[in-house]
Order: sequence, then structure tokens, then C-alpha cells
Amino acid sequence: MLRFLTAGESHGPALSVVVEGLPAGVPVERERIDTDLRRRQGGYGRGGRMKIETDTVEILSGVRHGRTLGSPVGLLVRNLDHESWRDVMSPDPQPDAARERRRLRHPRPGHADLAGALKYGTDDLRNVVERASARETTSRVAAGALARALLREVGVEVRSHVVRIGAAALPAGVVAWEALDAVEESPVRCVDARVAVAMVAEIDRAKKDGDSVGGVVEVIARGVPAGLGSYAQWDRKLDGRIAQALMSIHAVKAVAIGEGLAGGETRGSAFHDEIVGDAEAGLRRPTNRAGGLEGGVTNGEEIRARAVVKPIPTLLIPLRSVDLATREPQKASVERSDTCVVPAAGVVAEAMLALVLADALLEKTGGDSLDEVLSHLEATRAGQRRLAGPR
Ligand SMILES: Cc1cc2nc3c(=O)[nH]c(=O)nc-3n(C[C@H](O)[C@H](O)[C@H](O)COP(=O)(O)O)c2cc1C
Repeated sequence: MLRFLTAGESHGPALSVVVEGLPAGVPVERERIDTDLRRRQGGYGRGGRMKIETDTVEILSGVRHGRTLGSPVGLLVRNLDHESWRDVMSPDPQPDAARERRRLRHPRPGHADLAGALKYGTDDLRNVVERASARETTSRVAAGALARALLREVGVEVRSHVVRIGAAALPAGVVAWEALDAVEESPVRCVDARVAVAMVAEIDRAKKDGDSVGGVVEVIARGVPAGLGSYAQWDRKLDGRIAQALMSIHAVKAVAIGEGLAGGETRGSAFHDEIVGDAEAGLRRPTNRAGGLEGGVTNGEEIRARAVVKPIPTLLIPLRSVDLATREPQKASVERSDTCVVPAAGVVAEAMLALVLADALLEKTGGDSLDEVLSHLEATRAGQRRLAGPR
């Protein structure tokens, strides 16, 4: 129902995205998109580029006088440092010097360099790196801000926080929605100021060693209507769709829904969320270990998912690699790089969850206009109240 396609290279003129399927009438504020773009660029442990560029969005189509039109929304974020890469990234043929100036030959273990070169048959890793880079997530965050604008209208909010960076982690347990207010003030987007200090120290240590460090983020959506997604076919299951969306984020290597990781070591009686209540009070779940999803369908609880972010591949003290042209041993290439991207990955995860939830919402409600979405949803909610709400 809601689809989006991103385009753009890391040092090309711009990143772009086309979002199709948003109903007409959704309020869009450019500043909100820019706020999310800024949040993606922040976080302790980011490298030089984030300091020289502040991303801002241009809305090219699909929005008029602050509301969506129902037509595709085109968004553009310019790469400010493209100026010094004009010849290197030019779509037109250039003298060899332009190609040689930024040619990359020593693939970084853990990045897409070697796999991408083998896939596309190029010996210039620049051709791979420019698109494989997580700069692409700029487009996703911009698209995600549109999805959030729709979700906001139906009372759904999406937030995230950092659970772990290296050895520094929050204690086990549920982080309450209300605690998330602290996140935007934290340099590492962590709810606990003391743990945040330990996380910063982890990043500092990794940086001093010329190394990188990974971690875990949790993304949470509140106010999600019950009944989104489906168990009827494998590719409609919303837990699977969320996992795919989060796993597609650069450097994410594992995804768990709710307390999913504990599921392999816990008995059923301690794992599942009991159903309590009666006709008078309505039904409720005292716990939410399932992360708001049962059978691939939302059950009305908060959606909670965790993503494990690996340590990024570019290391200032590089790992062993080879020169692709000569096959001689070499140290892996070093591009200007971050040390830790876990806080930023949380912001990207919010965007991806918002996009999946907005898609699932529209699947449930249909609707060419926001008014139609709202009235269809109200009918759905009325039916659900009859089934499970107070009598
Ligand atoms: C927000 C964000 C920023 C990133 N920045 C860098 C970076 O500066 N240097 C780097 O080597 N990897 C960085 N990465 C990770 C790589 O993009 C990623 O490891 C690479 O594309 C290979 O994909 P894979 O790790 O999913 O296999 C970043 C990831 C994210 C989410």
C-alpha cells in the first residue's frame, strides 16, 4: 500500500526518495523531517562528515500547503560536500585522473566492498561504496518522517533508545515509554545517564584503539491498533515484515521481537503474556513479552523490537586485505568514518518501523484520504471494543 524507493550516492549531488501511497490530507511539516534528519546525524561516536553537513529536505512533489495530495511525494536531500566530488561523481565521461583520484582498491572486511565488486564486476570499489554506504539511510529517515506524520494522525508514536554499546548495557528489564523522554538529551540516546557515561567510555576506548564498537537498539511503537498484519500467508506476517525492515538497515545483524531472544531459554509459562480482565473491565495483558505481535498480527500492545548493530567495518587501524589489482597483501582502505553508529541506527530503525506500520495500517483501512482512513479505523476499533472492551 505504501511503497518507497530511494536513490542517490554518498558523494553524488543528492539523496532522494519517492513515497507512494500516502492518503491525501496528511499534514506534513518540513521541520519535522529535518528534525529526524538531524537526529540521524547525531550521536556520540560519529565522524567528520556529520560535523560539516547538516541535512535539510526539499519537498519536490505530492505536498501542497502543508498537506499531502495523494500523489507520490518526492523528497531530496543535497550532499553539501558534492562540490569537491563533482568530477569524481560526474555522470559524464571524465579524464582518467578523476577516476584515479578517489579509486578504492583495498576492500574493507565487513563492508560491501568485495562482495559488491564481485557482483557488479568492477575493480574500482568507489562504484560500490558510494551506494552501499549508510548515507542511503538519509532517504529512509526522510520517508519515515512522512509515515510518522500519517501514524501521528491515528495516535501512533514511534521512538527508540540504545540498550547496549559494547560492554556497557542497561540492566535487563522493560524500559517504560515515559522513560524515553530522556533519550533526546543523551549523547548516546540512552535512558540511563550513568549507563550513558559507560557507553561514551566504550566509544572513546574503541576510538583510541583505532577500532569500532557495536551495540543494541530498541524501537517501540505506542498506540498501534490491534489487527494489523496477518497470519494467513508468510509474507503478510507483520513480525516478519518488521524484522526484514530492521535487518535491511546497514550493520544490523540480528533482530528480536519483544523478548524474543529469551524465548530459547525460557519456559512457556514464564514467556507468554496472560490474558486477564472480564466483561466489565475489558481484556488486558499484564505483560508484553511478545512485543505486541502474536501470529504476525498486532494485539494492541506496544510494538517492541530490538536490533543488534555490528561494529562498523571501517577501522582506523585496518584489518588485512589485498590490492584488488595486484592481489598483494594490503591494509583495508580507510574512508572518513564513524566509530559507533548505534544511536543513529536507532533513528533509522524508527523510520523503518514507521514505514512498515503505516503500510500495514493502510492495508487494514484502505482510504484515499486521511478522513477515510480515520473513519475506517474507528469502525474497526468499535468492533474490537465490542469483542474485548468493557461491556
Ligand atoms: C547510520 C549508519 C552509519 C554508518 N556509518 C558507517 C561508517 O562511517 N563507516 C563504516 O564503515 N560503516 C558504517 N556503517 C555500516 C556500513 O554501512 C555497513 O556495515 C555496510 O554497508 C555493510 O552492510 P552490512 O553491515 O549490513 O553487511 C553505518 C551504518 C549506519 C546504520
